[in-house]
Amino acid sequence: MKDTSLRIADFKDSIFGVISRLAREHQAVNLGQGFPDFDGPEWIKDLVTQKMREGHNQYAPFHGTLNLRTEVSNYYKKFYGLNYDLESQVTITVGATEAIYLVIMGLINPGDEVIVLEPFYDSYVASIKMAGGIPVPVTMHAPDFNVDQAELQKAITSKTKLLILNNPHNPSGKVWTREELMQVSELAIKNDLYVLSDEVYEFLLFDGAKHIPTATLPGMYERTITVSSAGKTFGLTGWKIGWICADEKVSRACRLIHQYVTFSVSTPMQEAVAEGLKKLDSYLPEFVATYKAKRDFFYKGMKDLGFNFTIPRGTYFMMVPIESKTQLKDVDYALELIKTRKVATVPPSAFYLKSAEGGKYLRFCFAKKEETLISALANLKGL
Ligand SMILES: Cc1ncc(COP(=O)(O)O)c(C=O)c1O
Repeated sequence: MKDTSLRIADFKDSIFGVISRLAREHQAVNLGQGFPDFDGPEWIKDLVTQKMREGHNQYAPFHGTLNLRTEVSNYYKKFYGLNYDLESQVTITVGATEAIYLVIMGLINPGDEVIVLEPFYDSYVASIKMAGGIPVPVTMHAPDFNVDQAELQKAITSKTKLLILNNPHNPSGKVWTREELMQVSELAIKNDLYVLSDEVYEFLLFDGAKHIPTATLPGMYERTITVSSAGKTFGLTGWKIGWICADEKVSRACRLIHQYVTFSVSTPMQEAVAEGLKKLDSYLPEFVATYKAKRDFFYKGMKDLGFNFTIPRGTYFMMVPIESKTQLKDVDYALELIKTRKVATVPPSAFYLKSAEGGKYLRFCFAKKEETLISALANLKGL
C-alpha cells in the first residue's frame, strides 16, 4: 500500500497516551489528565435533556446556534466590554481545539512562521505543521514564565504572521499582567502580526487575579483572534463546545474551513451552554471557590512534602519543580512516580520545542475529587 501523507510524517503518539496507559496498568492515581474526575453541575446536564426533549436535535446552523452566538457575544460585552457581532464575528466550534485548528489553517500559508510561546498546548504546533507553517518557539522562562521582549523581537522575521499565546496559561497557571500583555502587543502591532489568544481558562482565577483578554489592549482588537470554550468553565470537558471571536475576514476564513471539517456542532449541547452562559454571574463564585479549595489543599500538601514553588493564580495546573527530589529529567521521573508511587503526572518537556527547562518540572492537575488528591499526597509521602 502507498504511504500516508507527508503532512503527518513527523507526528508521534504523544507521551500523554503512554502515561495514561502506564497509569492504568499500575493503577496509579491520575493527576496527569487535564480534566476533572468529577462532573459539572447537575443543572446544566439537565438542560441538555431538556433541550433534546424540546426538539433541538437536528443540524445546527453551521456557524453555531443563534442562542449560543448571542450569549457568547453578550458575555464578551458584559465581562470585557468587547463587541463581537453574532452574525459575522462569532463562530461555534468543536471545543477550542477545533477553533485553534481553524484559525491556523485559515491564516497560515506554507512557509509562514508562527511564534509559539513555550511551554504550549500541544495542538498549536501540530496545527501549524498541518498548515505547512513553521513553528518558532520563544520560551516563557521559569519560574515566573515571563517572556523576554528582546528574545521575542529576535524571533520575529518578515515571514512571521501569527503569534499564539495562552492566558491563563497551561501548564504554569500563570495569569498574564497588563504590562506583560502590552509588551507582546506592542511587538505584534509593530510587526503587523495576528495574535491567537487562547483563553479557555478565563474564569479559573484565584486570589483576585483578573483576566485581561488580549483583544482589549490598545490596537489589538482587530488583530486578535480570541478562542475559548465551555469545557473548563463548566467542568464538562467532554462536551467540546468552543468558539472563535475575530474580525469578519478571519471569521469568514475559519467558517469556510469549519463547514467542510465538522459542518456543525452538537445542537442540544450548544443550547445548554447558551443557558449556562446566561447564568455565569451566579455560577462563577461557587465554581471558583470549589477549585480554589482544591488548589489550596493540594498546594499545602505539596509544600509539606518539600516541593517549593509559587502557588498558581489561574487554571487547574501546577508546574512543580523536581530538582530538589531527583536527578532524573521529567519523563523518567514521571515514569518512576507511576511505577513506585502510583501517581501519574505529565512531563512538561513535551510542551517545549527549544528549551530544556521542561525537564525540571512535572505538571500536576488538581481538578480532582478530594479523595483523589488525598490518595496522591499519601502515595507521595516520604519522597
Ligand atoms: C490551553 C488549552 N487550550 C485549548 C484546550 C482545548 O480545549 P477544548 O477541550 O475546548 O478543545 C486545552 C485543553 O486542555 C488547553 O489546556
